Amino acid sequence: MSTWRFTDNRGTFKLDRPDLHSYTYFPIGDENGVMSSITPELGGDSKTGQNSFLLEPVSADNLHNNRSSRNFWVLTDDACWSAAGVSAAQQAAKLTDAAEPVSMEAGILWQKITRISSQQRLTASITSFVPHTAQQIELMKVEIRNDAEESRQIRGVAAIPIYGRRADNIRDHRNVTSMLNRIHTTVCGVANQPTMTFDERGHSSNSRVYGVFGAMGNAAGVAGEEAASGAAAPEGFIPLVEDFIGEGGSLENPRPLMESVSGKPLPVTGSGKEIDGYECMGGLVFPKVTLQPGEHVSFVIALAYGDGDVDALEQEIRPLLTVSSFDTLLKESRAFWEETVNVSYQTGDPDFDNWMCWVNTQPFLRRIYGCSFLPHHDYGRGGRGWRDLWQDCLALLVMNPESVREQLLNNCSGVRFDGTNATIIGSGLGEFIADRNGIARVWMDHGMWPWLTVKLYLEQTGDYGLLTERTPYFKDRMILHGDGADEDWSPEQGSLQMTADGRVLEGSVLEHLLIENLTSFYDVGEHGHIRIRGADWNDALDMAAQRGESVAFTAMYAQNLDDIADAVEKLQEKGIAERIPLAAELRILAEPDAASYETVDQKRAILRSYLESCTHTASGGIYEAEPKVLAQSLRDRASWIRRHIRETEWIDGENGEGWYNGYYDNDGEPLEGYDPESKTANMMLTSQVFTVMAGVATDDQVAKIVRAADHYLCRPEVGGYRLNTDFHEIKLNMGRMFGFSYGQKENGSVFCHMATMFANALYSRGFAGEGYRVIRLMYEQVRDMDRAGIYPGIPEYINDRGRGVYHYLTGAGSWLMLTVLSKMYGVHGEEGDLVLDPKLLSGQFDEDGNATVQLTFEGRKLCIAMHRESGLEAQELRVRELYLDGNRMDGNRIPAAVLRGLDPKTEHTVKVTL
Ligand code: G1P
Repeated sequence: MSTWRFTDNRGTFKLDRPDLHSYTYFPIGDENGVMSSITPELGGDSKTGQNSFLLEPVSADNLHNNRSSRNFWVLTDDACWSAAGVSAAQQAAKLTDAAEPVSMEAGILWQKITRISSQQRLTASITSFVPHTAQQIELMKVEIRNDAEESRQIRGVAAIPIYGRRADNIRDHRNVTSMLNRIHTTVCGVANQPTMTFDERGHSSNSRVYGVFGAMGNAAGVAGEEAASGAAAPEGFIPLVEDFIGEGGSLENPRPLMESVSGKPLPVTGSGKEIDGYECMGGLVFPKVTLQPGEHVSFVIALAYGDGDVDALEQEIRPLLTVSSFDTLLKESRAFWEETVNVSYQTGDPDFDNWMCWVNTQPFLRRIYGCSFLPHHDYGRGGRGWRDLWQDCLALLVMNPESVREQLLNNCSGVRFDGTNATIIGSGLGEFIADRNGIARVWMDHGMWPWLTVKLYLEQTGDYGLLTERTPYFKDRMILHGDGADEDWSPEQGSLQMTADGRVLEGSVLEHLLIENLTSFYDVGEHGHIRIRGADWNDALDMAAQRGESVAFTAMYAQNLDDIADAVEKLQEKGIAERIPLAAELRILAEPDAASYETVDQKRAILRSYLESCTHTASGGIYEAEPKVLAQSLRDRASWIRRHIRETEWIDGENGEGWYNGYYDNDGEPLEGYDPESKTANMMLTSQVFTVMAGVATDDQVAKIVRAADHYLCRPEVGGYRLNTDFHEIKLNMGRMFGFSYGQKENGSVFCHMATMFANALYSRGFAGEGYRVIRLMYEQVRDMDRAGIYPGIPEYINDRGRGVYHYLTGAGSWLMLTVLSKMYGVHGEEGDLVLDPKLLSGQFDEDGNATVQLTFEGRKLCIAMHRESGLEAQELRVRELYLDGNRMDGNRIPAAVLRGLDPKTEHTVKVTL
C-alpha cells in the first residue's frame, strides 16, 4: 500500500510521488476569505468568491488539463527547469524511469513539495499556505539548492497567470473581459486591476486588484550581494501571457525562456509600466544569483488580492516578501489551526488519531469554502445551504463554542413565519438569500436540523436561556409553505417579517423551532407522512414534489418533537419560564388536540388555516402556553408518528433481515420493498438511519436492519455501506439521483455523510461494534491512497471504483467528528456537565489499555486519560473511577460548576478507570 505517513500527532504527513495521483488537490485557505486549492504540480486555483478569482477557476478535470499553475522556472547555463515539474520535458519523463523524485509534506493547512533533478543537479522545495492575516494573500516560498559540485549561476522566473475576474467569464466573454485588464508592473510584481466587471449585477466599475509579487530572499545560503542587502526585487517582468509563451510556445514550453538558454535576451519590461487589454501574466524575472555547491536561494512569492490602489497593495505586500516574514507567518498560521482544531486523540491507533485531525478540520474548511470552491465542488456560487450551515455548527460548537450562541440566534432569523426558511446563507451573520434563481423551493428536512444543533448546544452548555432569546423572522415573497406568493410584498420592504401594525415580528428561539417542527408535522401526503416537496436531505430526490413523502425524515421530526417537549419542561424546572409565550397564530398547531391529526385531511386543513393566518403580516398577538400541556401535546404527536411508521412501513426480508420503507414516489408508491420471488430488494440507507436514530425501529428491528444493510448495501471493497441498492430504473417520479450511474454520488455511492450518521445511530442504540464497523470500513478505504486517491480526511463519497471524491467539503466531517468524540469515546455534555460514557472496543486502546482525548469543554482545556482495567469493551464498559486533577468525582460526570471553577489557562487532567 502506498499512502501518506504521519510524522507527528497533529496530522502532518509525508507522501512520495504525489504527482502520480490524479485529481488530488489540497486546500489552503483562511478565515480571511482566501480560498485556494493546490495540486502537487502547483495547479489548482485561488479566489475570494465567485466574482473574484486570481487564478483561473478549475474543476476536477482541469487539474490534468490546465497548464496554468503557480510555476517557477529555474534558468541555468544550459537548461530551463520547472521547479513545479511542469515543463514539457518533465511531463514527458514523469511516467518513465527518468522521472524526478517528488515528495510532499503537508499539515494543517500548508503544503511543501520537494523535487530533485539529478540531471539538472537542483533541488526545489516549494511551501504554500494562506497566512492568517487581514491581508488576503496566498504565499509560496521557493527554495532552490545547487546540488552540483561546482558553483553556478541560476535565475529564477515566477510564472503565474493572473486570471483576475469572475468565474463565469471562463466561458462568458473570456476574451472580451481581457480587454478590461489594466496591467501594471510595480517594483516587486505584476498587478491587474480590470476597469470593469461584467456580471449578472450589470457592468460595473471594478476596484479589485489581483497581483503576483515576489522577492529573492535573504535566507542563509544566498550567495553574493543579495545576501548582504536583504530581499532583492525582480529584475524585470513579462506581464502578458502571450509574450511569456511566445509564438508557438505554451506555459509548459515557453519559447522566450527556452531560447534564453542559448543566449537570446528575455523580453522583460521594467517596473512602473502599464499595459492594457491582454491576458495577464505574473511573470517575475529575478536577478541571476551564484550558488556555491550545496547552497540554496529562496524566493517568496505572494498571490495578493487588494481593493482600490495597486501601489497601496504593493506597499502592504512588500514587507511580507522575506523569508523570515514567511517563516513567522507560517508558524503563526500553524499555531492558529492547532488552537482552533482543539480536539485530538492518542489511542492504540495513531494513524486513526492523526486522520481524525483532518476530519476535525473539515467543518472549518466548509465554513471557509462553503460548498462551492474546491475543484470537485464546481457548482453553487458561494454561501452555504441551510442544512449544511446547521450541521457544520455541530462540530464548531464542540471545538469553538464562543461565537456559537450568537450564530445560532442569527441563524434562527432565517426561518420564515410559515415554517420554511431562507435557503442560502451568505458569509455574514444573518445574511440570508431565499433562492439565488428566484425559484421557491422547500426542502422538507430543513426544519429538522436547527433543533439538532440547538439541542447539542444545550447539552454542552446548559444554557437553556437561549431558547427564550428573541429574534426576527425572514420574509420574502414565498408564503403558504412554498405553495403561494405574497403579491403584497416587494423587496423594498426588506426581508424581515412584520406585524399588522408595522413592527418587526420577533419570537423566541423556541418559537422558531416549534414553528418549523409543527408546520412540518401537519404537512402530510396521502400516506400520512411528511411531504417531500423539493427534496429532503438527499438533494437528488427532487422529482416527487406533488405526491412524494419522506418517511425517513418524518421519523426524525418525531424525535425532535419529543426532545423539544423535554426542553419545554426544563424551562419550567429551571425557573426560566413559568409560561411559554408564543405567537397567537401558533395555538392551532400547538394545542393538544389528538383527534385533529388522525387523518390526512384534518392535518392539512389545520396547516392551511395556520398558513393563511400569516400570509403577509403576523398579528403580533401572544398566547401563553402552559409548559406541561405543551410538552404533552408535542409528545402525543411524536408517538403518533412512531406508531404510524411502525405499523405501515416495516418490510420483512428473509434470513432475519428487515428494513423500513422511507419514501413514497410521485405516483404515491413506496420506494423500497422486497420481492420474495426474485429475492431482490430496494433499500435506502437514509430510511434506516433515521428510523434507528429516532427510536422508531425497535431493538429487534435494528438488528434486522443491520443484517439487511450488511447483505444489500455493504461492499467492504469500496468503503462499506452504500446509500441504496441499484433500482435499475430511471425513476422520473422520484428524482435525478436515478439518472446518475449506480455507485456515484446520491445513487448508491458510499455517501460518507449518511454512512457516518448510520454509525452514529447504531452507537446511540447500543450497537457499538456495528457502528464502529461502518466507520472503520470508510477509514480503511480512504487511508489507502492507491485505492481512494485522496489525502487524509473524509470525502463526500467513495465511488464504485473506490475513489474518494468531493474531498473536504462535506457534512461527513462534522458528523464524524461528533460521532467519534461523543459516541465512540463517549465524551459529551449534559446540561453543561461533562459526561463520560465510552464505547471503545479492545483494539482502540493501546497495549497498556490507555486511550486519551484532549478537548476544550466549558472553555477549559482537558486531557482525558482513560485506562481500561476491566477487560470489558464497548457496551459493557463502565466508568469505575473518575479523577479531575487528582480529585475523585462521583459517577461518570464532572459538574458544570466544578469545570467553571478551573483555571482556563492550564490543561487539566481527567483520569478515568474503566
Ligand atoms: C451534500 C450536500 C448536503 C446534501 C447531501 C445529499 O452533502 O452538501 O446538503 O444533504 O449532499 O444530497 P455533503 O457533501 O455535505 O456530505
